[in-house]
Amino acid sequence: MLPIDLTGKRALVAGVSDDGGFGFAIAKALAEAGATICLGSWPPALGIFTKLLERGKMDESMRLSGDRRLEFERIYPLDAAFDTLADAPAEVRENKRYKEVGDFSIQGMTERLRGDFGKPSLDIVIHSLANAPEVKSPLVDTSRQGYLSAISVSAYSNVSLVRNLAPLMREGGSFLSLTYMAGERVIPGYGGGMSSAKAALEADTRTLAFEAGRRWGVRINAISAGPWASRAASAIGFIDMMIKYTASNSPLPRPIEADDVGNTAAFLSSPLARSITGSVVYVDNGYHAMGMATEPEK
Ligand SMILES: NC(=O)c1ccc[n+]([C@@H]2O[C@H](COP(=O)([O-])OP(=O)(O)OC[C@H]3O[C@@H](n4cnc5c(N)ncnc54)[C@H](O)[C@@H]3O)[C@@H](O)[C@H]2O)c1
Repeated sequence: MLPIDLTGKRALVAGVSDDGGFGFAIAKALAEAGATICLGSWPPALGIFTKLLERGKMDESMRLSGDRRLEFERIYPLDAAFDTLADAPAEVRENKRYKEVGDFSIQGMTERLRGDFGKPSLDIVIHSLANAPEVKSPLVDTSRQGYLSAISVSAYSNVSLVRNLAPLMREGGSFLSLTYMAGERVIPGYGGGMSSAKAALEADTRTLAFEAGRRWGVRINAISAGPWASRAASAIGFIDMMIKYTASNSPLPRPIEADDVGNTAAFLSSPLARSITGSVVYVDNGYHAMGMATEPEK
């Protein structure tokens, strides 16, 4: 057997607030392969998430193969819009969902990881977060502030994660982010500058692979996933139509599963992928290869 063996490795998955998205599926696949898992979770959703966990409401989704269960070694508060606590405006710092959680910036999370586990202590970082306040507006109608906010949270945050966390990585460290085809081709309705943010995320995957590869010896990749009805995707408003359209027009005419992304992420994060860096890997049943829609079914 050729196993994906992540025994002894520690992963940080940034962007998990429930059990319905890619971040959760990736955390599960990494744990299935033997890694320990820390999460970075957005303060506005953190309270509900930890309550659901404590009350056992997610027990079913936490089951791994055999008698094992998914456990989170740590759940750190993380607002990826801020590199340092001083960058967060007073109204955010004083907001009731932020006030009690301590330093929720990228630097704050890095310091907590360093304090909890020392240095070097990390092997795998997953960036599975995105937000665009004006996602329902066409790009042409998006305000400057909305556009910059989409790019800041959804793309620059990955640059900042690499800069902050790469010094904590052990040999063979791997960074992975999640992108979508809207960064390359027009997906009508995927607005608010999210398409621009995905284009930036993909370009940065290549540049960071070079820079961080030379400086820290780490790998940087992205998965371009097909549509999936996570909480974030449902906020766009027409995810069911996107799934149906993509499934019926793909070489493999079926919707993707979150586990498809989880399993690919586990491979890309493993030593088996040691020579893969600077790549955007499609997990979309081949939809990206199509140049024409198929005949609508009669
Ligand atoms: N669902 C899809 O169809 C699809 C397709 C391709 C790529 N993706 C990408 O996958 C990634 C994960 O999204 P998902 O669809 O699984 O949804 P999700 O709702 O599970 O994940 C998005 C996460 O981002 C977090 N978040 C939002 N703003 C944040 C901030 N400022 N700081 C920290 N965390 C923040 C949310 O709390 C949430 O946990 C995103 O990058 C998304 O663009 C999704």
